[in-house]
Amino acid sequence: MPGIAEPAPLPWWHRAAVYQVYPRSFRDLNADGTGDLRGVIHELPYIAALAVDALWLSPFYSSPQNDSGYDVVDPRSVDPIYGTLEDAQELIDQAHFRGLRVLVDVVPNHSSIDRPWFQEALAAGPGSPERAHYHFLDGRGPLGDEPPNNWVSMFGGSAWTRITEPDGSPGQWYLHLFDATQPDLNWSNPHVHLDALDTLRFWLDKGADGFRVDVALGLAKDMDYPDIDDPEGLVLALRMDLDDGSAEAGARRRRVANSPILDRDEVQDIYREWRAVLDSYPGDRMAVAEAWVPPERAARYVASDTLHQIFNFDFMAVGWDADRIRTVVQQTLDGLRDVGAPPTWALSNHDTPRVVTRLGGGDVGRRRARAMALVAHCLPGSVYVYQGEELGLEDADIPDEARRDPVWFRTKGAQRGRDGGRVPLPWAGALPPYGFHDATEAEVQPSLWLPPPPDWASFTVEAQLRDASSTLGQYRAMHRLRHAHPGFVDLHNVTWPDAEPGVFIVRRGCGFACVVNCTDREITSPIEGYVMTASDASVRLERNVVTLPPDTGAWIQA
Ligand code: NOJ
Repeated sequence: MPGIAEPAPLPWWHRAAVYQVYPRSFRDLNADGTGDLRGVIHELPYIAALAVDALWLSPFYSSPQNDSGYDVVDPRSVDPIYGTLEDAQELIDQAHFRGLRVLVDVVPNHSSIDRPWFQEALAAGPGSPERAHYHFLDGRGPLGDEPPNNWVSMFGGSAWTRITEPDGSPGQWYLHLFDATQPDLNWSNPHVHLDALDTLRFWLDKGADGFRVDVALGLAKDMDYPDIDDPEGLVLALRMDLDDGSAEAGARRRRVANSPILDRDEVQDIYREWRAVLDSYPGDRMAVAEAWVPPERAARYVASDTLHQIFNFDFMAVGWDADRIRTVVQQTLDGLRDVGAPPTWALSNHDTPRVVTRLGGGDVGRRRARAMALVAHCLPGSVYVYQGEELGLEDADIPDEARRDPVWFRTKGAQRGRDGGRVPLPWAGALPPYGFHDATEAEVQPSLWLPPPPDWASFTVEAQLRDASSTLGQYRAMHRLRHAHPGFVDLHNVTWPDAEPGVFIVRRGCGFACVVNCTDREITSPIEGYVMTASDASVRLERNVVTLPPDTGAWIQA
């Protein structure tokens, strides 16, 4: 009707399914044992057939790979192990051709020690402008041989490392919240701001649709460098495996808020600059913050003048507990309601145990993970899927001598680290390397950067592709149904029908509900109707009555 304007369509990221590609482990087209960008290009048809909306690429920039690429030398380059800048451009273009958006990772909190800036800082000496790109301080004690304060690294040990000055004398200390090869950049320095804006523009000019912002809560530091009460407690606050939903865990989590190193209020000033750059480009460019902050702090990262999304680690940490799942979902929606930002949901990423492992491992863990995937995919907002989750993979056992994660080395084995969830994807065949590369038996077989287990034959893409009841089949069905039902996007259409203890039920817009049975007995769903998709073939539908065995779930159209 003339005069009545249609509401503007929401930007794509309000309801996207985003597939996380960890390039090291996705597909190895040059058969050197490490994945590469041409491998991602080669498998774009697979990603497109998953019916996701976008992909997020973990770092592929030049790097000595001490933290698998999160130690960046030049953020506007491609490391030769992954390919070339031309490959990156082709990947973005081809993804767009297939209707997929592309997010790239930015790592603004720190660089590699091999970045020229850091090498120049070492050479230039105390008090120089070069040192001011990082946090260099004199040590404490009469000889300056004690760290400047008690801050600790998220990877274990002190957050400070002492250098030798150019004249050979014991020198200043530099800050690193992660590995000693990852010095923290000094965000009180305007050069650091300008350089990051150049990086954003570089990738936006290449057509990137947005960014995943690494350590988004950590960039600003208290420049008085005060000691922290219980610094280890702050590290424990970010340990997902310790978040049991208890009041104690909640109190520990709240210590992150506006602390000397994390979630400082002034970090949002940085994102206001970034937002202005993103908004100056055509199309719906966006950024998602990697920031595990207490629910009441999340909205700050996604206000209309800061970033667009924030990862929801509270949801990722949730166990197999219907009541807790509902509490976290409700808290998430409440926390973001005032700013109107879409929530995000994810079950795992390259830093966490795989969801199958986290929920019990083996067949039970897999059944639960598939049911949890129904929850993550039915809620308003965007869902992030970590590569291999759609295959139902669990963490692999990595022999100690094959481990690569700096967490393993810095904690001297006290924490096993993240390698188990980063093993190369199985594509085809009955034995390792399961088609990760195509070297024939006659050719030299590269050893993979992490060894896949011997028993993954039934989890390969090839083994699941034609089986609609497989985990892969379920993920494809969920993504297709999200596209078919616009009601997924409606933030307000979330209601909680009565449910018996141990049963999770959420009713969504457009007349459907997600029901998940977290009990150890079979239940009859109080919601009747047609089963749109289920997490397991054992879910039964008879005359509109849905029966759910333990550890299963279904989307029911009523
Ligand atoms: C978070 C990344 O996801 C993780 O893999 C990395 O080790 C740290 N940030 C440091 O960059």
